Formats: sequence, C-alpha cells, structure tokens
Amino acid sequence: MPYYRQVGDVPRKRHTQHRGPTGALYREELVGEEGFSSDSSLLYHVGVPASLVDARPWELPDQSTVPNAPLLPRHLDLHALFDDGQSARADVVTGRRLVLGNADVRISYVVAGAASPLYRNAAGDECVYVETGNAVVETSFGALEVGTGDYVVIPRGTTHRWLPSGGPLRAYCIEADGHLGPPRRYLSAAGQFLEHAPYCERDLRPPADPQVVTGTDVEVFVKHRGPGPGGLAGTVHVVPEHPFDVVGWDGCLYPYAFSVRDFEPITGRVHQPPPVHQVFEGRAFVVCNFVPRKVDYHPLAVPVPYYHSNVDSDEVMFYVEGDYEARKGSGIGRGSVTLHPGGHSHGPQPGAVEPSLGAEHFDELAVMVDTFRPLQLGEGGTASDDGAYA
Ligand SMILES: [Fe+2]
Repeated sequence: MPYYRQVGDVPRKRHTQHRGPTGALYREELVGEEGFSSDSSLLYHVGVPASLVDARPWELPDQSTVPNAPLLPRHLDLHALFDDGQSARADVVTGRRLVLGNADVRISYVVAGAASPLYRNAAGDECVYVETGNAVVETSFGALEVGTGDYVVIPRGTTHRWLPSGGPLRAYCIEADGHLGPPRRYLSAAGQFLEHAPYCERDLRPPADPQVVTGTDVEVFVKHRGPGPGGLAGTVHVVPEHPFDVVGWDGCLYPYAFSVRDFEPITGRVHQPPPVHQVFEGRAFVVCNFVPRKVDYHPLAVPVPYYHSNVDSDEVMFYVEGDYEARKGSGIGRGSVTLHPGGHSHGPQPGAVEPSLGAEHFDELAVMVDTFRPLQLGEGGTASDDGAYA
C-alpha cells in the first residue's frame, strides 16, 4: 500500500543471485497480498525463512465474546483493566484483553511493561495505537521507534516484537481480519496520496535500516485462522535461526508508524461528518481520529454533532486526551471507550450543545472504529463496563 521503498542490500535485478561476503547465496522471499496480485516486498534472508524445528499450541488470551444484549450504548473504562502489578508483567502481544470484536475486527487493550515474544499475526493486519509510552518495535524489515500518539501498522504475517522503554506502554490494538490501509478515496489510481488527503507519504515512518540478529531455536508466536468465521488459534513455531536475518528488502508492503499529530484536520463553516476524520479503512470497518482543531465558523454554527442514527454501523470511540465537548457531564474521561450500537440514536450529552455555541477550538483527541457488522463484548469489555452510561 504505502509507496515503494528500498532498504539495505538488494540486487539490481529481482530474482537474480545475491550473495553475502562469504559468497553464500541470500534467500529471497516474496511477501505479498492477494495471491501475487497486490502489493508485495522482496526480502533477502541470511537463512531459510521456511525452516521449522518444532511447533506447539499457543493458548491465546480469552477470545470469547458475548452479544451486546439487551442492546445498549455502553461506557467501558479501559484504565480499570490493568493495575501496576499486572502491567509490569504484561507484554503487548500476550497480555492483550479483548474489549470488542466481530468477524471483521477485534479491539483489545493492554498496559505492558515487559518485552513481548516474537510474534506474527497471520489472520490480518494490526493497527496498534499507542495511547501513552514509548517502545521499539523490532520487525523483520527493521526497527520502528514509536511513542505516544503513534499508529503502528503491521502487515499480516510480519514477524515482530514490542520492547517498551521507560515504563509501561498503553496500547489500543485494532486487529483486522484481512487488510487495513489508508482510505482509497485519498489515493490516486497508482496509490499516491492525493492533495485533499489529511496526511501523505512524508508522514509515514517505515524502518530505515535492516536488522540482523543471530540466534538458534527461536520461538515465534503465531496467531492464525481458527474455527468459525473470524475464528482464531495460536501456534508457537520454533525456528532454527533468528527470523531477523534480512540484509535488505524493497517493495510497497512493510510496517510503518504514523503519528496522530501529523493528521491535518479538515474543518468547515458548519459541522463536518466523521468521514473527514477517517485515517484507515479495513474490510467492513473504518478508523477515524478526532484531533485538536478549529471548529465550525458559520456565525450560527452548532459545533458539537447533531444526534445521529448511523444505521449501518456500531461506533466505538476511544477517548485519549483533552475535553471531549459532546460528552461533557457523562463521566467519560481518558481511557474511556463508548460503544454506540446500530439501532439506537446517539448524540451530544444533555446540556452539551448550548455551552459549545461560539466555541472556536476543540481540544480533544479520540480514536474511533466504526464497524458495519455488530460488535460483541470480549471479556475485557464486560469487565470494564460501567453499567450506567445508557
Ligand atoms: Fe456517532
């Protein structure tokens, strides 16, 4: 998806002999989407990427869900899910608690102070929003330095690990069943960001250098397709050599970070609908962000949203920073998630409209996931439900 990039040592022609200092051949691997018919990258490994020593089951964190029944808008307090002791032990991969999910997308949350194992998600792309904290995300394409406000987009099948630094990392994990990327309407036919897009190639931060690590009998935790629609299972693969053995790669498929601070808000004289806030799209879901911005400047504008029945969607808002004007007085604060399901209208909190009149600027930061099929509650969603929001 993003744009062509070349990192490290690659041969002038693809699919030709490429040798290291000892004369040994590097092993070329194509990582590509949609059966050789979409974006891909070519990676040059020191070892054989297909080698396997052993495999055993990996018991995934609880992936069970229950319906949102009776149908209710809900307020989930994610910060209540982890205390200091839990976060010191948790890692970004195995410590995730499932908040909401359906067959298209799963949203989980973790506060993680520990290094994760090597991991790849073979069921879909991941988009991890870093609520707070810093980490190095090491990948087979090289390392990403990430911090508060970054989206970290990891393509399906990318081997990587999360190494928090300087304290626990709060991570809001959006796992697609399939792929996720910038909205098509912001891209040219050849994939370049268009002038009306709220961000562009310069805002994406891919790995800058390859990373070669030596090791033997290395474990890689693989999350993959399981029984049923959107079902998951886990396997630990033991591989003979360290999977970070890539001396160079090129192509259009790779992990990257993108800071929400680099999203340029689109504003208007009257209220702009949520699609102007969209940052990514997946199959049957979208990701939007509400960033600090100048608000509607018509002299009679109503800056907070109108009540709306978005009849095809469940809307999930994650409140990250600032004062969320439309929810004043509702008990919602940092770390809150609201679920507004299809089939029920929603809008500003009672009393929020009048104080917003005449406002020139909203200091709010929120990440929204809208799904086109209903969401169910995971164990982390049930455990953090305040039971009072409706
Ligand atoms: Fe909404």
